[in-house]
Amino acid sequence: MTRHFLNLSDAGGDAVAAMINDAMDRKAARKDWPKGKADADAPLADHVLAMIFEKSSTRTRVSFDIGIRQLGGTSIVMDSGSMQLGRGETVADTARVLSRMCDAIMIRTDDHGKIEELAEYADVPVINGLTDLSHPCQIVADLLTLVEHGKALPGLEVAWLGDGNNVLNSIIEAAGLMKFNVRIGCPEGYDPDSSFIAAAQNAGAGVTIFRDEAEAVAGADVVVTDTWVSMGQEHVHNKMAAMMPFQVNDVLMEQAKPDALFLHCLPAHRGEEVMPSVIDGPQSVVWDEAENRIHAQKSILRWVFGQI
Ligand code: CP
Ligand code: NVA
Repeated sequence: MTRHFLNLSDAGGDAVAAMINDAMDRKAARKDWPKGKADADAPLADHVLAMIFEKSSTRTRVSFDIGIRQLGGTSIVMDSGSMQLGRGETVADTARVLSRMCDAIMIRTDDHGKIEELAEYADVPVINGLTDLSHPCQIVADLLTLVEHGKALPGLEVAWLGDGNNVLNSIIEAAGLMKFNVRIGCPEGYDPDSSFIAAAQNAGAGVTIFRDEAEAVAGADVVVTDTWVSMGQEHVHNKMAAMMPFQVNDVLMEQAKPDALFLHCLPAHRGEEVMPSVIDGPQSVVWDEAENRIHAQKSILRWVFGQI
């Protein structure tokens, strides 16, 4: 059966834990090597990853490209605007053709339904590089970063501040799989997807929405935020004023545990969702988090090919 990675639950908690371990081992094994040098075992030698971008990307694009090279394979990066997909060729036909030419497909798109359709018609693994609904690859890197920095996932108190977006949906999904709790501080009207909340709660995770930012952060082990305006939502006006109380600043960070870590998937907007003193301060691990996109993508690639 073809393994797709559209959401974290496609893999499940045990596989996500195995990915984190695999990423840590492989990262340690190639410490200080040139980034373009393949890992000694090159486990995906001769494999070709097709990447389709219907939205902008820096980290996802580069980390998958470098990641597949380190695994011994190669990639083809396509912007939908320069593909026939952008001129009306169907998602199904694109899936059929790329399945004959490539070994896996990573796509960043808007409507999550599109990636589900791609997976339905593809004979090769399809990986979610972000949709409007979720961003599972980001969360594998985030969990790896937390574990690397000494946090045990079960029972962890993760506070999210700001917009209830795709990244938060995947954090909530991870909470159910890895048994941690999410305390969400967001204004009314910007809640995360209710089906992700219900699934995580059914799996035993605590997922609570607060309208008061200090309550959300109180005693947290990790504080996370993201842009207030996700790609494709630039038309949503009057959001800034509602979001401003949920800005992550020094006063808010003081409500969290003294050893709390700060995460942000990036790109960041200093002065909006986070103040420079936090993202550029001692509790921030955002550059480790960004680097870990490479190590996480490699483990995701190995998982879809049945190597984990
Ligand atoms: N965090 C993340 O996905 O970054 P990019 O949009 O640059 O890929
Ligand atoms: N929530 C953001 C994440 C960017 C990596 C967006 O969808 O634009």
